[in-house]
Amino acid sequence: MLPAVLKVVCLFLGVAAALAQSTATTPPTLTVSTAIPTATAPAGATLPSQVALPPKQAWCPSEIFCAGSLLQTVNLAHLFPDDKTFADKPTNKPSQQVLADFQKISSSNVTFDQIVSFVEQDFSGEGLELEALALPNFNPNPAFLNNVTNSLVRAWTQTVHGFWTQLIRGTNDSILCSGGSNCESSLIPLNHTFVVPGGRFREQYYWDSFWIVEGLLESELFDIANDTLQNFMDELDSFGFIPNGGRIYYLDRSQPPLFIQMLFRYVNVTGDRSILTRALPLAEKELKWWHDNRSLNVTSPFTNRTHLVYHYNVNNSAPRPESYLTDYLTANGPDVSPSLNDTQKADLYAELATGAESGWDYTRRWFTDGDNDGSLRNLGVRSLIGVDLNSILYRDHVALADLYGSSNGSQVKAHRDAASALRTAVLDLLWDGDKLAFYDFNLATNQRKSFFSVVNFYPLWSGIIPDVLLSDANAAFGHFASLNLVMNRYNGTFPTTFVDTGLQWDAPNTWAPHQYIVLQALRALPSNITSGALPTTGSGNSTYSLIPAGQLALAENQLPQQPKLNPADGNFTSTGPGADANALNGTVFNGGNATDGEGWGQILQRELANRYITSAFCSWRATGGSIPGVSPRLSDPELNVTQSVNNTGNMFEKFSAFDLDSAGRGGEYTVQAGFGWTNGVVLWIASNYGQQLNAPQCPSLLVAAGSSTSSARGPNTIPIFWTMTIMAFVVALL
Ligand SMILES: *[C@@H]1O[C@H](CO)[C@@H](O)[C@H](O)[C@H]1NC(C)=O
Ligand SMILES: *[C@@H]1O[C@H](CO)[C@@H](O)[C@H](O)[C@H]1NC(C)=O
Ligand SMILES: *[C@@H]1O[C@H](CO)[C@@H](O)[C@H](O)[C@H]1NC(C)=O
Ligand SMILES: *[C@@H]1O[C@H](CO)[C@@H](O)[C@H](O)[C@H]1NC(C)=O
Ligand SMILES: *[C@@H]1O[C@H](CO)[C@@H](O)[C@H](O)[C@H]1NC(C)=O
Ligand SMILES: *[C@@H]1O[C@H](CO)[C@@H](O)[C@H](O)[C@H]1NC(C)=O
Ligand SMILES: *[C@@H]1O[C@H](CO)[C@@H](O)[C@H](O)[C@H]1NC(C)=O
Ligand SMILES: *[C@@H]1O[C@H](CO)[C@@H](O)[C@H](O)[C@H]1NC(C)=O
Ligand SMILES: *[C@@H]1O[C@H](CO)[C@@H](O)[C@H](O)[C@H]1NC(C)=O
Ligand SMILES: *[C@@H]1O[C@H](CO)[C@@H](O)[C@H](O)[C@H]1NC(C)=O
Ligand SMILES: *[C@@H]1O[C@H](CO)[C@@H](O)[C@H](O)[C@H]1NC(C)=O
Ligand SMILES: *[C@@H]1O[C@H](CO)[C@@H](O)[C@H](O)[C@H]1NC(C)=O
Repeated sequence: MLPAVLKVVCLFLGVAAALAQSTATTPPTLTVSTAIPTATAPAGATLPSQVALPPKQAWCPSEIFCAGSLLQTVNLAHLFPDDKTFADKPTNKPSQQVLADFQKISSSNVTFDQIVSFVEQDFSGEGLELEALALPNFNPNPAFLNNVTNSLVRAWTQTVHGFWTQLIRGTNDSILCSGGSNCESSLIPLNHTFVVPGGRFREQYYWDSFWIVEGLLESELFDIANDTLQNFMDELDSFGFIPNGGRIYYLDRSQPPLFIQMLFRYVNVTGDRSILTRALPLAEKELKWWHDNRSLNVTSPFTNRTHLVYHYNVNNSAPRPESYLTDYLTANGPDVSPSLNDTQKADLYAELATGAESGWDYTRRWFTDGDNDGSLRNLGVRSLIGVDLNSILYRDHVALADLYGSSNGSQVKAHRDAASALRTAVLDLLWDGDKLAFYDFNLATNQRKSFFSVVNFYPLWSGIIPDVLLSDANAAFGHFASLNLVMNRYNGTFPTTFVDTGLQWDAPNTWAPHQYIVLQALRALPSNITSGALPTTGSGNSTYSLIPAGQLALAENQLPQQPKLNPADGNFTSTGPGADANALNGTVFNGGNATDGEGWGQILQRELANRYITSAFCSWRATGGSIPGVSPRLSDPELNVTQSVNNTGNMFEKFSAFDLDSAGRGGEYTVQAGFGWTNGVVLWIASNYGQQLNAPQCPSLLVAAGSSTSSARGPNTIPIFWTMTIMAFVVALL
């Protein structure tokens, strides 16, 4: 029966694409999406045996959606490629009935078929409790577009501005399971409208929302920015902190604490200070939560001074419900030898949840020093004092002090003092003045780590600038020399790290939020420091030679190599001038036009801004994006390379530093399309760098595909509007 259904889905793909096209600027009306079990097993096959249940998690009491017998058993059947699908399905019966139905099948050896029919009969479509909403105040021509000179870039950023209409959600009260109703759901209902990131991320998310709000403010959707903040304030009221996302299974953890930054930007752009009456006490509440739950005192091995600093640290001893099988296998899989005892499993589950709280799930950055087997069993997130978290909290204290203005002198002083102490701590523990870079501090070894990543740029964004970077232009360039290397050596934007592990927060993946942070870090330096010429390499050397010794902790030939367009042609060289694949006369490829009198700080900003727009535009175009009369649709043979013949263009959650046409890869889940923070950063860059953006030069998909197959290059994802449209048809047909 399943294959027949899938054929029907294929028949309707063309219609779905046409509908998606027509909804580009009007609100989508479909909200139902229902994944169909895709796993197969012989009729009557029983589930694999399972290990003992993890301890009950006090923070997550649901018998259905939190760690427990039902969730573990259903996950072992692996009905859906993504574990989150089941956790997001509301029941269609009262909880007691669902639990009784489960009891019936689980009392004997449960079969795969029994789980399939249990899930089909007792649960409805994932995300059914959310509904797409219209945007009544949508202005198709926000003022920032006037800042964009190039007509293609302007038309495309206007298209991206239109994507908000696809990502606006509200709680669907008619489906909502609440008090005495006849269903149960994992959703945390929100009373105000919000923007979802997209794809599997069908709720409001915490740190994503900062870049979404930046975009909403450019799009002049001030009411939606206000609504976003109101939801976070409701959560602070209800829970005392802001959870990772709007589901009960996120109630053990937060995410990078950017609420105060969103508030600050909202007040700064709108001038609406009336929000502060409610917001200031709740901002205090959030900072108190971080202080009470995530701070510790560390005595510096460098100065013997003791500092109050912060780490991510989640109290959790079970697989994450939305990634249950993944975490279960990490701890109990056939490759785990010797097997872990209960204490080790509990520790591992805490590390996995903590990695998720950091936003970077997962990365080599979190691996323990010394012996480790390169698996997620070797995470040491909780013992790191992270550069990003401490920079964000510094900036939170500064911003909150500013928001009080003259209204509350003692609070202003308290926050300035807290900020000042954090600044001292960051400069003592995390700044390496020889390498001119910031690194995480490892409590397990009582040393600063040597692992370099894009977090290097957070302190300058936050306003923590080491004195030497304000007095010595060479040192300041040294701090950014890795960006110069990326612009010259790679085709895309700044990767999260320079090691390729297959994890999604490592090379070659690059993420929108980080490009924003790098640009803001450059903007934080005064012009008397950044106005000099861009340093050049000596003959025989590449841009690697301009990086302070030891900063990357990688020899030049250990860096990932830039591949050539046709894989059959191999790579650019690993060292020397030939490794700088993109160095051209005076600027870099897809880096905009050099102008007279530009200093190195402006050059690097122009190049990165152009690269980001190029990555997002080319990936969208390579997956079927077009604008009539401005950017023609690629041919079917080209779109076939990305399996996008029936698609209308995706905005991806992440990109590749190597390939402007393809989204990033790797990680916990399939690459997601949508996508809130990607769109937000496009709009912010268009507004701030609009006069310097050139028409992107996208690589040829056919050359890139070469003569071989190209299955690895596809978007690997069904975009959100397809899912909704296709599934609505399937539901109708069933
Ligand atoms: C359940 O399965 C186990 C192992 O496959 C078997 O030994 C046992 O007899 C089965 N129990 C029932 C009630 O079928
Ligand atoms: C346009 O750019 C100018 C500076 O180039 C900036 O001051 C202004 O805020 C931008 N306008 C918008 C609407 O973003
Ligand atoms: C922001 O939202 C709140 C809650 O809905 C509302 O009371 C307030 O008037 C809104 N502010 C503005 C400026 O629209
Ligand atoms: C939403 O509004 C309802 C009714 O006013 C209230 O009971 C509930 O607590 C609110 N939800 C949140 C998360 O604040
Ligand atoms: C916005 O922020 C800038 C810089 O932080 C400041 O100069 C300006 O006065 C602020 N505007 C408002 C309305 O708060
Ligand atoms: C850190 O030290 C301060 C001052 O001694 C103390 O008040 C605070 O409770 C300590 N915090 C933690 C998390 O140990
Ligand atoms: C820190 O204190 C220890 C013990 O008092 C001392 O041996 C060491 O030299 C001090 N280190 C620094 C950097 O002051
Ligand atoms: C679990 O294993 C660790 C590492 O071998 C060991 O230190 C610990 O004592 C064990 N705990 C229990 C409860 O067996
Ligand atoms: C740049 O200007 C600042 C004041 O705005 C000054 O403190 C600093 O010393 C200057 N740096 C250089 C290298 O001239
Ligand atoms: C190349 O760079 C290295 C430093 O990385 C330097 O020692 C060497 O002199 C440079 N060679 C030339 C030819 O500039
Ligand atoms: C080419 O570069 C890619 C990406 O950096 C790398 O995975 C691959 O090993 C390189 N191939 C060779 C032959 O060096
Ligand atoms: C990367 O850019 C270089 C220079 O612009 C080009 O020669 C190369 O083919 C590109 N590689 C890919 C994978 O696009």
